[in-house]
Amino acid sequence: MPTTAPARLDPLQLLLKHDKPVPRYTSYPTAASFHTGVGPSELAAELARPSSEPLSLYVHIPFCRHACWYCGCNRITTQAGSKVVGPYLQALGRELELVQQASGQRRRLGQLHWGGGTPNYLSGAEQAELWALIARHFDLDPNLEASIEVNPEFLSREEVLGLRQLGFNRISFGIQDADPEVQAAVNRIVPPDQLRRAMGWMREAGFESVNVDLICGLPLQTPARFATTIALVEELRPDRVSLFSFAYLPEQLPLQRKIAADDLPSQRERVQILQGAYDAFTSGGYDAIGMDHFALTGDSLAVAARAGRLHRNFQGYTTGGELDLLAIGVTAISQYPTLFSQNQRDLKAYMAALDAGVLPVERGLVVRDPDELLRRRIIQRLMCDFRVDFGHLSGGDRPGEGRDRTDAADTINGPQRFAAEWADLQTLEADGLLQLERNGFRVSTEGRWLIRTIAAVFDPRQRLRASGSRLI
Ligand SMILES: C[S@@+](CC[C@H](N)C(=O)[O-])C[C@H]1O[C@@H](n2cnc3c(N)ncnc32)[C@H](O)[C@@H]1O
Ligand code: SF4
Repeated sequence: MPTTAPARLDPLQLLLKHDKPVPRYTSYPTAASFHTGVGPSELAAELARPSSEPLSLYVHIPFCRHACWYCGCNRITTQAGSKVVGPYLQALGRELELVQQASGQRRRLGQLHWGGGTPNYLSGAEQAELWALIARHFDLDPNLEASIEVNPEFLSREEVLGLRQLGFNRISFGIQDADPEVQAAVNRIVPPDQLRRAMGWMREAGFESVNVDLICGLPLQTPARFATTIALVEELRPDRVSLFSFAYLPEQLPLQRKIAADDLPSQRERVQILQGAYDAFTSGGYDAIGMDHFALTGDSLAVAARAGRLHRNFQGYTTGGELDLLAIGVTAISQYPTLFSQNQRDLKAYMAALDAGVLPVERGLVVRDPDELLRRRIIQRLMCDFRVDFGHLSGGDRPGEGRDRTDAADTINGPQRFAAEWADLQTLEADGLLQLERNGFRVSTEGRWLIRTIAAVFDPRQRLRASGSRLI
């Protein structure tokens, strides 16, 4: 008797079947595995390694003038302005001194990123002070990629031009959703005209790349309402768009309790919103990048993606993933090939450590196990390329990955080495989420929204523990 192929599931059915709370895999292992056994001495040892490679520096500015109810970022809401910023800049200065003492050499910066919170909480003079502080401690590469995240709510033309003059060449601002009712439901009201003005100033200032952030899944969002936001983004035509899925974790984020679960769009609506955005952007000159980004075809992120040079770190997708990432400021996470180190998450504890002359590391993780490093590489390539070729995984393209690997130039036989995972992949293939290849696999269009579930196949912790936010 002829066998009939099982009917293919539609995107919503796939989601209902495979959606599970899994991490976003901005790192592997994820921050959930960090522990306090890692402290200042581990970071100091890492800093002490001589290197002629350029460095990527992340600076965390935690302050915000008011709280957006959806926000899951590490931030502190305060109206105190320079009263909190002054001591914070001093603390960053002390932290840079300690970093320099530990490293014993002056490093060159290839990438600089200020994130938050709200970096433009700082006044123009404070921004210039921080820039000067960084320039005192590092050589700035002539091709430095310097980027900053800003909240467009309080932005002025003068400030935008000032940021470009300081040396920033990339800028990112949050739109989230342009609909007035959605904005009111999340306490983040920025009229479209202010967004248009902000974009105009950024273009006038000559930023090489402008990114906007959107969130899918906010309260009162519908596919029709979100179409207005998409139309606004098409009009503004940023170089990059980040389309995040709303991480709704009211038990962990008390402010999100102001958002009623009943107001959130249904799974079906979320799929329609994501699909609508995907169709609009990809037919409008943007390439879909990794899990949740779009970039104009000529943008460096799109170019890197096509060349298979995309990376992912705590700031999202990047073209400079081969660089060591030193992160300063409260809660900031540094990423070295075999070390994650997170600064104190409490502002007072962060300041106290620096007052005591100690690197303010609270916790972290050392990853030297070749199996863990290999899994990291699989998840990294999967999240960036939507494809894994086990035959081309062994090396690792970061200097440190080479330092500790044991797989050396061996070619990995995926189906053999990861037999249990291969069986899981076969199940996902049966539902059309991916296609297995001789020694690897490729994610299908249907699997795009479930990339995190596919990545979780290679994360042994996910079989023991369920954490993280909903998938979309
Ligand atoms: C660190 S925030 C800084 C942005 C900047 N302060 C602003 O308000 O425009 C970066 C982005 O994270 C995203 N984000 C914040 N909370 C989120 C959540 N709970 N779920 C998904 N994305 C979120 C938003 O799109 C936001 O623009
Ligand atoms: S979205 Fe930006 S401005 Fe709003 S609370 Fe979060 S970090 Fe602050």
